[in-house]
Amino acid sequence: MSKKNILILPGDEVGPEITTEVIKILDFLNESKMTDISYEFGDIGGASLDKYNKPITDDTLERARKSDAVLLASVGTPKYDNNTRELKPEYGLLVLRKYLNLFINIRPIFVFNTLLDFSSIKAELINDLDIVIIRELIGDVYFGEPRGFKDINGDRVGYNTMLYSESEVQRITKFAIDISLKRKKRITSIDKANVLECSQLWRQTVDRLMNDHTNIDLEHMYVDNAAMQIIKNPKQFDVILTPNLFGDILSDAASMLTGSIGLLPSASLSDSTGMFEPIHGSAPDIAGQGVANPIAMILSLGMMFEYTFHRQDLAKIIKKSVDDVLQSGYFTKDLSQDDFITTSEMGDKVLESIKNHVK
Ligand code: IPM
Ligand code: MG
Repeated sequence: MSKKNILILPGDEVGPEITTEVIKILDFLNESKMTDISYEFGDIGGASLDKYNKPITDDTLERARKSDAVLLASVGTPKYDNNTRELKPEYGLLVLRKYLNLFINIRPIFVFNTLLDFSSIKAELINDLDIVIIRELIGDVYFGEPRGFKDINGDRVGYNTMLYSESEVQRITKFAIDISLKRKKRITSIDKANVLECSQLWRQTVDRLMNDHTNIDLEHMYVDNAAMQIIKNPKQFDVILTPNLFGDILSDAASMLTGSIGLLPSASLSDSTGMFEPIHGSAPDIAGQGVANPIAMILSLGMMFEYTFHRQDLAKIIKKSVDDVLQSGYFTKDLSQDDFITTSEMGDKVLESIKNHVK
């Protein structure tokens, strides 16, 4: 693997704590010459607001663009809850996604079999679960214009625009098709076409593209039904193709199948670059206590190896190592309230296990 350079954005609340754990692994891989990845740090979200009064600076955007990949921990802090949109921590993340053209968000939903009984769903419904959510990431009501606040007849309103162009739907659908061809050839496309024009265009566009792929089993599903089906019978899904907002909501719901949202990584991709981050947020309620689960962040590093650096071998070792640690009965507090190890101990355990695998 040639020399690479990545930008690490620890962000807010538990972000820096889980970042520390991933760096231990990165340092080990570099020291043992399995990788040659230099890394630098940047600020995003509240951390950037603290220093620059902006949730992301032009300099950080530029450095993200120049790096081979971005590893991001979490964004958001109640400290800035009352800020206007452009001065909220989350705005920094949205600007970065848009700037890097990360229109693809991949959220794999899988269950470590050791954790079957940690889920609020019956074990037989989730054993060997393997779903991948393909979420469109830079369109929809998140970015649609016009948006804002105004007065209508003396009544203040807030408004947003749910909007997709055909080309936006096409490019994410093409990606879902590619992924699906390597899997069970089954796509569930999510919309609310019984109510929304934006969803009708989504559905028509997906249908048109899928005409050329009759070997793929396509189902359209309304988002409300999908929310129910994910809980009722999650194994019916293979690839879930979803617009931005519905994907945000469904992926949090789906993460609960797996025992804890602290376990799941994600990849956001453009045609040329990638950003890797846990699905979970910044968890202000547990920040600074050393109890956050670093596994989602560690697995995000794994996804970086898989998608950007084409190092399937390392991605596999990382996932296997996490599995081993869980199988040995070590859990962070999100999984085991009374008998748990700290964030840093979990990082050390996973590192130890990685060392065993590469020996
Ligand atoms: C996510 C998060 C973000 C989103 C927030 C932090 C802006 O919830 O990545 O799922 O809504 O996309
Ligand atoms: Mg979310």
